[in-house]
Amino acid sequence: MEKLLVEGGIPLQGEVRISGAKNAALPLMAATLLSPGVHTLRNVPDLRDTRTFLRLLAHLGARSERCDDVLRIDSSAIVGVEAPYNLVKTMRASVLVLGPLLARLGRAKVSLPGGCAIGARPINFHIMGLERLGVSCTLEGGYVDARCNGRMRGNVVYFDIPSVTGTENLLMAAVLAEGTTVLKNAAREPEIGNLVDMLNGMGARIEGRDSDCLTIHGVEALRPADCTIIPDRIEAGTYLIAIAATGGCGRVVGCNPRHLPSLLEKLRCAGLVIEEGGDSIGISWPEERRGEPFLSSVDIKTMPYPGYPTDLQAQFMALMTLGRELCVITETIFENRFMHVAELQRMGASIRVDGHSAVVSGRGMHGLSGAPVMATDLRASSSLVIAALAASGRSEISRIYHLERGYEKLVEKLSGLGARVWKEEE
Ligand code: EPU
Repeated sequence: MEKLLVEGGIPLQGEVRISGAKNAALPLMAATLLSPGVHTLRNVPDLRDTRTFLRLLAHLGARSERCDDVLRIDSSAIVGVEAPYNLVKTMRASVLVLGPLLARLGRAKVSLPGGCAIGARPINFHIMGLERLGVSCTLEGGYVDARCNGRMRGNVVYFDIPSVTGTENLLMAAVLAEGTTVLKNAAREPEIGNLVDMLNGMGARIEGRDSDCLTIHGVEALRPADCTIIPDRIEAGTYLIAIAATGGCGRVVGCNPRHLPSLLEKLRCAGLVIEEGGDSIGISWPEERRGEPFLSSVDIKTMPYPGYPTDLQAQFMALMTLGRELCVITETIFENRFMHVAELQRMGASIRVDGHSAVVSGRGMHGLSGAPVMATDLRASSSLVIAALAASGRSEISRIYHLERGYEKLVEKLSGLGARVWKEEE
């Protein structure tokens, strides 16, 4: 197993290019199951999760070929209907094959994901929605066995809470259903817009993109896709926070600033200068504050898009340990997403967790010191990297396979910004 070593205290400078979004690539890869033929996906990040998803598609009978960031998936011969436990347990997004397999073959058997490092994460909304479309689901041996006789039938599906992969699964099921489906209180994340564009490009008829009410007029067949994955807003946000936390000055390029409304506002409130370009975002400390050892402390509360993203909560907490006073970070999406707190405390952060909120007492730009810490999930790990970059001295972050699930070329990209960071065998 590898660990990451970080020599902190160096202000990051320069430009970093953002990769395609993991959480858009995975549903778009699942959508290739909907139509036989060769699909082309562009700007696909090469990550542990996208590789795992390719293994799942191969298990179902699809063939794929990658050339740089272009992925060609041939889904002509889909023979399997099962997402096995050993794949689902390493990547919950495997559940995304449920909708497209049912639409194409009328059957899907997917291992129930179970709990994970950030919460219980049930899939009851996915199952309830599919049942509304005429699917019968049984649970046996830890698997959801879903079947439908002929085509699914359009219906109204209401989500109690907007679910990202739930909305994606129902979209992929409904595009080939008979009649019209309406998804109410649907999630509005930009990754869903990317999936809607891909499906409409394949011949689907979906209305209401970017809204919480999606109307899907079912069609009889779809054609193969040629689609580009949107830039990863969470990766972009992570680098912006890293640059800010080191007192640096830089630019993330190849991203979409419109996908980060809440983060950019919070960074401005913290006292940083944000400059939005067409496909880039600049970040720096204001002239009058350079040399000052504090950021302003800012509260955040995670919410479905366009609210503050849960996937950038841990990173913002690392930044707020460098604040001037107290702030409250409230997590409303997942019940167990404060695993990074104990590790940040090992680096000198003063944080108290009370239920769904964490109170962070900022100690200024020189408040953290390097320490050995352990990564627990993907985004918690990136917050430890940010803290390590900001801290004085050396940090060792173990279990970095979590980071490899979602950050393409992390070491190269950070080194390009001037960070002293490298991997070693544990
Ligand atoms: N929920 C249910 N029942 C369901 C589905 C969801 O109760 O059937 C609850 C969840 O437990 C949670 C809330 O609804 O409290 C929202 O969860 P959602 O379904 O939106 O999460 P997800 O689709 O499983 C995706 C991302 C996550 C991201 C969340 C929230 C992908 C592949 N994953 O998960 O990404 O945190 O949306 O934005 O798109 C990550 O990239 O690190 C990551 C965890």
